[in-house]
Amino acid sequence: MVVIKVKNLSKKFGGKTIHKNINFEVFQGECLGLLGGSGAGKSVILRSLIGLEKPDGGSIQIEGEEIVSKEEDQLIEIRKKVAYVFQNGALFDSMNVYDNLAYPLKEHTTLNHAEISKEIHKLLEEFGLEGTSEVYPSELSGGMQKRVGLARSIIIKPKIVLFDEPTAGLDPYNTIKIQETIIKLKQKGMTSIFVTHDMPTAFAVCDRLALVQEGKIACVDSVSEIKKDKSNRINQFISGIYI
Ligand SMILES: Nc1ncnc2c1ncn2[C@@H]1O[C@H](COP(=O)(O)OP(=O)(O)OP(=O)(O)O)[C@@H](O)[C@H]1O
Ligand SMILES: [Mg+2]
Repeated sequence: MVVIKVKNLSKKFGGKTIHKNINFEVFQGECLGLLGGSGAGKSVILRSLIGLEKPDGGSIQIEGEEIVSKEEDQLIEIRKKVAYVFQNGALFDSMNVYDNLAYPLKEHTTLNHAEISKEIHKLLEEFGLEGTSEVYPSELSGGMQKRVGLARSIIIKPKIVLFDEPTAGLDPYNTIKIQETIIKLKQKGMTSIFVTHDMPTAFAVCDRLALVQEGKIACVDSVSEIKKDKSNRINQFISGIYI
């Protein structure tokens, strides 16, 4: 079953064309990796999927529902269903780690204080963030901020998650922790898009990889196919032959 369907998406910023014609689908339970050079338009694709960017043309369907034509107030329901793990963590600076994590639970669930506290402490432990409850984002390292951002995005167990470089800047131990978390979420049925430059993680968590190039999806293939066929365009991109 197709969960996300992107068709003929186009986008310009000023006079600059970012997306000419983007087409792809993501199936139920799948993790689709999005690769591409810096500035290729990967983050703009993710932002468009939750209505944070308005495409100039084309269609985006999430579980059959058209996103592009939706007004801001209609997008709230979509943003409950589709979690976005921002490239920079996007934490609330005025709230400590505990309150950052409690926020989505208070907004979107009926859990009581004790249940919220239990969920938060479980995730803090899973993400190696024990003892940071009272700490404010500005006092955390970049990698810790990223992990809190990821924890906050998944705390309400969304069915669809858009990951924007969740492992960039993380040390190997925490990178593997995040891979394990994503694999666990997949086992529970999560459908996701995974934007990354971290190829070991892409191979560990993605089912298929798509390459964004010159405003189009230049190539999309299963991870097993890409591993077999060294001449595959995605392998050429990975080995740095071209951007
Ligand atoms: N709000 C904006 N206004 C103007 N230009 C923008 C805006 N957002 C993105 N762009 C431009 O669109 C292009 C694609 O940006 P995007 O952030 O999607 O790249 P990316 O593929 O995610 O790159 P990276 O791998 O470096 O994160 C870039 O040239 C960027 O400068
Ligand atoms: Mg980006």
